[in-house]
Amino acid sequence: MNRLLLAALVAGFGVAASVSAQAQSADAAIAARKAGMELQTAVVGAAKRAIDAKEDVKPFKDGANAIAMWGKAAPGLFIAGSDKGDTKALPAAFSDPEGLAKAGLALNAAALKLAAAADANDKDAFAAAFKEVGAACGACHRTYRQR
Ligand code: HEC
Repeated sequence: MNRLLLAALVAGFGVAASVSAQAQSADAAIAARKAGMELQTAVVGAAKRAIDAKEDVKPFKDGANAIAMWGKAAPGLFIAGSDKGDTKALPAAFSDPEGLAKAGLALNAAALKLAAAADANDKDAFAAAFKEVGAACGACHRTYRQR
């Protein structure tokens, strides 16, 4: 086989491999952001039940801190190529990374209040912070997620 042809073939395989690695990481990023969203929804649902039943909120400290971290982490999962596939993210999530990061930081701030209220087992402060968390979810979804 001609050396040039061999080099072209090798280069071609390299490109194909990197394209497929990229597609895999895009799929993984979509799966990771959905998993995080579902996990925090589980925490939020349990917190709502505790508020309604006027139960102790102390057990929600870790979950609230995890939501706060997620607020910082989630925007980083909207990587190039993950705008296509099994996703409901709007194009704005990819064209406006700064706005997306800001929306994540709003969730971070609200969830830190939730964690502090949980740590103090302060039910009123917890309920107030819970509303802020819900508003932060809604604000981001309105701009960056399909209905
Ligand atoms: C920084 C923006 C942002 C914040 C803040 C945010 N979300 Fe999301 N959420 C999204 C986007 C974008 C999607 C669509 C992701 C996709 O399909 O790729 C989504 C998807 C979801 C989904 C669907 C997941 C699935 O299985 O398809 C749920 C449930 C959800 N969010 C709940 C929440 C809750 C609850 C909060 C607040 C505690 C929250 N989100 C905060 C942007 C956000």
